[in-house]
Amino acid sequence: VDKRQDFKVADLSLAEFGRKEITLAEHEMPGLMAIRREYAEAQPLAGARVTGSLHMTVQTAVLIETLVALGAEVRWASCNIFSTQDHAAAAIAVGPNGTVDDPQGVPVFAWKGETLEEYWWCTEQALTWPNTPTGGPNMILDDGGDATLLVHKGVEYEKDGKVPEVDTAESDEHRVILELLHRTITDGSQKWTQLASEIRGVTEETTTGVHRLYEMHRDGTLLFPAINVNDAVTKSKFDNKYGCRHSLIDGINRATDVLIGGKTAVVCGYGDVGKGCAESLRGQGARVIVTEIDPICALQAAMDGYQVTTLDEVVDKADIFVTTTGNKDIIMAADMARMKHQAIVGNIGHFDNEIDMAGLAKIPGIVKDEVKPQVHTWTFPDGKVIIVLSEGRLLNLGNATGHPSFVMSNSFADQTLAQIELFTKPDAYPTDVYVLPKHLDEKVARLHLDALGVKLTQLRPEQAAYIGVEVEGPYKPDHYRY
Ligand code: NAI
Repeated sequence: VDKRQDFKVADLSLAEFGRKEITLAEHEMPGLMAIRREYAEAQPLAGARVTGSLHMTVQTAVLIETLVALGAEVRWASCNIFSTQDHAAAAIAVGPNGTVDDPQGVPVFAWKGETLEEYWWCTEQALTWPNTPTGGPNMILDDGGDATLLVHKGVEYEKDGKVPEVDTAESDEHRVILELLHRTITDGSQKWTQLASEIRGVTEETTTGVHRLYEMHRDGTLLFPAINVNDAVTKSKFDNKYGCRHSLIDGINRATDVLIGGKTAVVCGYGDVGKGCAESLRGQGARVIVTEIDPICALQAAMDGYQVTTLDEVVDKADIFVTTTGNKDIIMAADMARMKHQAIVGNIGHFDNEIDMAGLAKIPGIVKDEVKPQVHTWTFPDGKVIIVLSEGRLLNLGNATGHPSFVMSNSFADQTLAQIELFTKPDAYPTDVYVLPKHLDEKVARLHLDALGVKLTQLRPEQAAYIGVEVEGPYKPDHYRY
């Protein structure tokens, strides 16, 4: 494969802009840069072929170049059709030493506004390694689990000796996946089985992807070990919360520029993401109402000062609706039909099934119109309009640029350390789902203190003995919840 063609991005000429933003981001990502320095000589990822499926943003570019700096070869796709920042993708394709005419970077397959067919094609390209024994990666870095899912589905069909039937598809996206598998699996083929056999493990970024991994492990179908990066404390208690606190209102502002102060906003779900979103909206002066199914999270929301009620109670009164549950069918077409004129509806959970977009489109006489990319009005037959952001996909990445660098430095330092763990210690991780060891979690936090001027108190040996920990940590038992 000609390296100059082994990528697909929107516009290579955006590379210079991308490189400038990557350079600015590097300073804001002290954890990743410290890891680059620490492991520059050891090259722990030498020999690793990492397939990444994660939003192709500026911050991800710094992650990719960190993996490369540690010795890995990398192929990349975005994990959402709207989340790519085209200048970041271009800069990654060109690479720090290449030019637009002579790109020398990482094979990346990602652009903003992919169709579902293109999206899964990109995922397939990231998983397809030219000139390697199995034609595949030996590590996966996943966000939401789509790369992992594709490999597992392929293996499942090959094991059953079945060629996937496209007409059994349950949704548009399912049809696209089946078409891809249909194209790559012929009678008796072992393409995916072989590809999976060399994969040492996957490190998974988000709640929803982690959920899939535990399900596969429970069902006995998980093919290789996984590290649940999401549940590193320095990931979910930071990225999911403080990241969304930043990027939720960024998305709403860029999409609509509506004044949030004084409005009534409903946040569905009060987990880590919901907590950040509620705070973000309250920070702008909105009156925030929370919905929850979990009594503990409902009580937390109440104690934090939010009204907690059902969507049904407030659907016709609120101005802004945000789903954060990682669950399906949260806001249905019938709910949207009851909303106020120009109510804003968006999702920040990983998949687009929190909002019933299919049901909305089926309302007789409804008219969809594009205001600008990723912002659509839906006009009901009576003239009432609602505004839907990013077609129900995660709005902080669709309408804005996702989380800022500093918080992603924590998540991606976790990712990098998790990749090193699985790649360099395969015997320590038999097939199962693991969380990052706590000393690494604490290490990641430590790497971010200086930049914020934090002065940590040094535990004295007799104090350490008194509370039963080592002076150098870990400082908390595994069950501690932060
Ligand atoms: P979480 O599990 O901490 O929180 C979800 C909450 O939703 C839970 O408290 C749950 O009880 C609640 N919930 C479930 N069904 C509900 C229903 N029918 N009505 C109301 N509440 C309901 O998960 P987390 O970490 O907050 O993640 C949520 C979603 O956001 C996941 O899909 C995750 O992958 C995604 N995510 C998105 C990010 C982004 O940048 N857009 C960043 C991090 C995570």
